[in-house]
Amino acid sequence: MNNTTIFDNIIELPNSDVKKRADALIGFQKRFERVHNNLKLLIDQDGLIEWSNKYHKTKLTVLDTILDRYPLVLLAGDAGTGKTVSAEGIADNMVRELGKEGFFLKLSTRVRGEGLHGQMGNLVNNAFDRLKQEAGKKRIAFLFIDEADAIATTRSTHQMHQEEKAAVNTLIQKIDEIRGLNGRAIVFMSTNRLHFIDEAILRRAAIIMEFERPDDSERKELFKKTLAGTDIKEKEFDKLSQLTGPSANNGLGYSFSDLTLKVLPEAVAESFPDKALSFDILENVIKRVKPSPKII
Ligand SMILES: Nc1ncnc2c1ncn2[C@@H]1O[C@H](COP(=O)(O)OP(=O)(O)OP(=O)(O)O)[C@@H](O)[C@H]1O
Ligand SMILES: [Mg+2]
Repeated sequence: MNNTTIFDNIIELPNSDVKKRADALIGFQKRFERVHNNLKLLIDQDGLIEWSNKYHKTKLTVLDTILDRYPLVLLAGDAGTGKTVSAEGIADNMVRELGKEGFFLKLSTRVRGEGLHGQMGNLVNNAFDRLKQEAGKKRIAFLFIDEADAIATTRSTHQMHQEEKAAVNTLIQKIDEIRGLNGRAIVFMSTNRLHFIDEAILRRAAIIMEFERPDDSERKELFKKTLAGTDIKEKEFDKLSQLTGPSANNGLGYSFSDLTLKVLPEAVAESFPDKALSFDILENVIKRVKPSPKII
């Protein structure tokens, strides 16, 4: 397995397409700030030491505990809540704030799907080798392990093969190692099943960010943003939000992806080519397209 095939995607940051996608996400800024506030000290270690020297004429001992944290961010939540799109957006915004460059490596799910026993450990090793290679003075390297439960599942599961346990051990060891890169390498992991993730990995995470389905006002905002230019009225946007919310759907509202990848495209398909996109069409589509079941 060589390095070019184990990644789905390698993006150099900053990247304007990534930024455009992130800017379109509802609630993105809040999420970004949370990650940024948590990681800025880890990432800008030189800056931190400069600050300490400037204001205290010494490197304060408290810095050691800060610098000792793991550059690991967990993104957890149900399917279609925005974990994958947010990860690259957060990385992009982070390098912009720091005025640095970035390298975003997305570990391929395809390869992991094929991952025969014993290969998972190799895959982890190769991925981290590349991560280390790309991390530089001016450049932050990000490794994104999407759907990480495929690798990071708790070792206490009885059915787990010896080789799979070894892969989790390798992963933990690699996360420990990259602390030595002084914030130039960051690992993001996403999962829909936080309770499957190994304890030792959970403990190391600097941040566990939970993603939820959109609430009433977020659904309304999504409809308003994506349907600007139609004749749909304010009251009707409220109604669309209500129709796709938990109270109208046995307690489980629509996810972001239910709305962006199903409801909205279907409504456009129903209008095109000879009708305007209207509230009535959306209402009908919503009756037909139900929210995706929750992953537990
Ligand atoms: N905050 C958001 N605002 C607007 N649209 C969003 C938001 N989050 C997600 N979406 C939409 O939902 C789609 C799915 O998001 P994404 O693939 O990141 O979900 P996910 O949490 O990674 O899901 P999965 O667990 O299935 O991989 C995106 O392409 C986007 O269109
Ligand atoms: Mg995803």
